[in-house]
Amino acid sequence: MFYNYLEKKLEDLKLQDNFRELKNHKKNYILNFSSNDYLNLNSDRELKNNFLESINIEEISFGSSGSRLLGGNYNEIINFEESIDKIFKKKSLVFNSGYDANTTVLETFYKKGDVIFTDRYNHASIYDGALHSGVKIIRYKHLDYQDLEKKLKKHRNSYENSLIITESIYSMDGDIVDLNEIIRLKNEFNSQCYLDEAHSYGVLGYGLAYSHSVVEEIDFIMLGLGKGGGSNGGILILNNISKEYIVNKGRKFIYTTSSSPIQTSWNHYIFKKIPDFKEKRKKLELLKLLVYKKLKEKNIDTISSEQIISIVIGDNKKTIDLAQKLGEKGYLVHPIKEPTVPKGRSCLRLTLNSNMEYKDIIIFIEELSNELKNDNKI
Ligand SMILES: Cc1ncc(COP(=O)(O)O)c(C=O)c1O
Repeated sequence: MFYNYLEKKLEDLKLQDNFRELKNHKKNYILNFSSNDYLNLNSDRELKNNFLESINIEEISFGSSGSRLLGGNYNEIINFEESIDKIFKKKSLVFNSGYDANTTVLETFYKKGDVIFTDRYNHASIYDGALHSGVKIIRYKHLDYQDLEKKLKKHRNSYENSLIITESIYSMDGDIVDLNEIIRLKNEFNSQCYLDEAHSYGVLGYGLAYSHSVVEEIDFIMLGLGKGGGSNGGILILNNISKEYIVNKGRKFIYTTSSSPIQTSWNHYIFKKIPDFKEKRKKLELLKLLVYKKLKEKNIDTISSEQIISIVIGDNKKTIDLAQKLGEKGYLVHPIKEPTVPKGRSCLRLTLNSNMEYKDIIIFIEELSNELKNDNKI
């Protein structure tokens, strides 16, 4: 019975063109639009060599040997947090993933009787943390501050604590939050606010809050290290009392082996180098401008404005077919389907990285335009 049930559920997904498989992607694509390594840190040989020269391979460990409270609180992680604290002038905590950092804040600080106001397109980890915490979840329309205000007016006072949660650059739609609006509403409605910077760390230097000098006004900032940071892990920036509370009560912080010293050293190395990646950021910006200009010339619609570009197709099957055709032409493009995006909003998600060549982008948009025309999409 147990396996029959699973088989039936998987069959349903296949019928809906929504079955997922782990594929081994070959490396020799003309353009890889599915990598979140926006600054291409992982193919920067010089950077990697310099990092390896900066560590003492005889002494550094490849495993942390324990959780942070039990033997896994080693020099490299303490030094890393001290560096972060100096830059952000707040406290920090390193997590094994952005997922753990996001869920920890929701699960540790919020409970039944509290409320969170979450942009409806926020990442799954935010929903998972909220569901686990028992907090009341109120979704507002994507980047719609009037809708958020309306919902705060209606519901805020019925709950004890209130948290407004947003991403900075949106992971699927590739648009960007207006932080001033979020901070205004947080202050007006006596709430805390949470900023997920998974897709802006690196791309916007130390992130959107830091570059807008509003770190102090945001209760929790999550810097994801797995994308523009070219690595793995997540950092929470928070005040001292919240840090102490997580160290005492945050189950995903307490009950897990901390990341390895070698990994932490790479994260720290990249963190210190963030201001030096100006050329990479400039190239990414120029690529972005080129893509949006070319899409416009070809009448291809997108709601995106950042380094993630979403072309909404709508139907699962059509999106998969388009991605496959582009793949046959040498472009790795992932079809994104529900539940990652809402039903009926399947899209091609194109992520840019600073190693791409302008000429390849121009040819790709020509190919994309031809495929969309064949499909009557433009
Ligand atoms: C917006 C956002 N937040 C959080 C996460 C989770 O981060 P991590 O992959 O480090 O667990 C992701 C990554 O998928 C993301 O896109």
